[in-house]
Amino acid sequence: MAVRDPRDGAVQKIIKGLLDFARQSEPEKRENDVLEILKKTIALVENHKDFREIEIIEDFDPNLPRLMLDRDQIQQVFMNLIVNAEEAMNGSGTLYVRAKPGPDGLTVVIMFRDNGPGMDEDTMRKIFDPFFTTKEMGTGLGLSISLGIIVNHGGELEVESKPGGGACFTITLAANSGAGGRAAA
Ligand SMILES: Nc1ncnc2c1ncn2[C@@H]1O[C@H](COP(=O)(O)OP(=O)(O)O)[C@@H](O)[C@H]1O
Ligand SMILES: [Mg+2]
Repeated sequence: MAVRDPRDGAVQKIIKGLLDFARQSEPEKRENDVLEILKKTIALVENHKDFREIEIIEDFDPNLPRLMLDRDQIQQVFMNLIVNAEEAMNGSGTLYVRAKPGPDGLTVVIMFRDNGPGMDEDTMRKIFDPFFTTKEMGTGLGLSISLGIIVNHGGELEVESKPGGGACFTITLAANSGAGGRAAA
C-alpha cells in the first residue's frame, strides 16, 4: 500500500485510520518502561509546528514499575490522546501529562489533561464509538482504537470533561501482569 506520509492530507488520514482499525490485533506484550514510551511519544510531537504553542507539562514518577506492554500499540494510544488534545485546543494551550503509581501500588495511572473546550455529556457518551467525530476532517477512529488497545492490555481508559472545562483522559494499567515487576536495586 503506497501511503507515503500518513500525516499529510485528509484522504491519507482516513486511509491510515482505516488501516489502524483493520490492523487491531492481539498485543505482543513484553516488559517495557512505560515512561520511556511516553517520553518518546512526546518527543515525536514536540517540534511539530502544530505544537509550537502547546505547553506540555510533564509530571512523571521516575520509579514506576515495568509493565507488560505492546510498545507500538501503547505509543499509538498516547499519540492519539496527545493529538486529540492539540486539536481540541486548536494549537494553543496546556497539556498536562502525569504518570504515577495507582493508590494501591498495583497499577500505573497515566493522565492527559488539556485546557481546551471540553465536551458535553452527549458528546462524551459517543466518543469511543467507531467513526464518531465532531471534526470536519476527523475519522472518529482514534479513541475507539485506543480503547480497544487498552482493554486488550487488561486496562481502563476513562474520560472526564465539562463544557469549557477541558478534557482529561486517564489510562490505568495493571503493574503486576506476570513479569517480575520493578528491578531490584
Ligand atoms: N481532548 C479532547 N477534548 C475535547 N473533545 C475531544 C477530545 N478528545 C476527543 N474528543 C472528541 O472525541 C471525538 C472522537 O475522537 P477520535 O476518536 O480521536 O476521532 P477524531 O479525532 O478523528 O475526531 C472527537 O471528534 C472530539 O469530539
Ligand atoms: Mg483523534
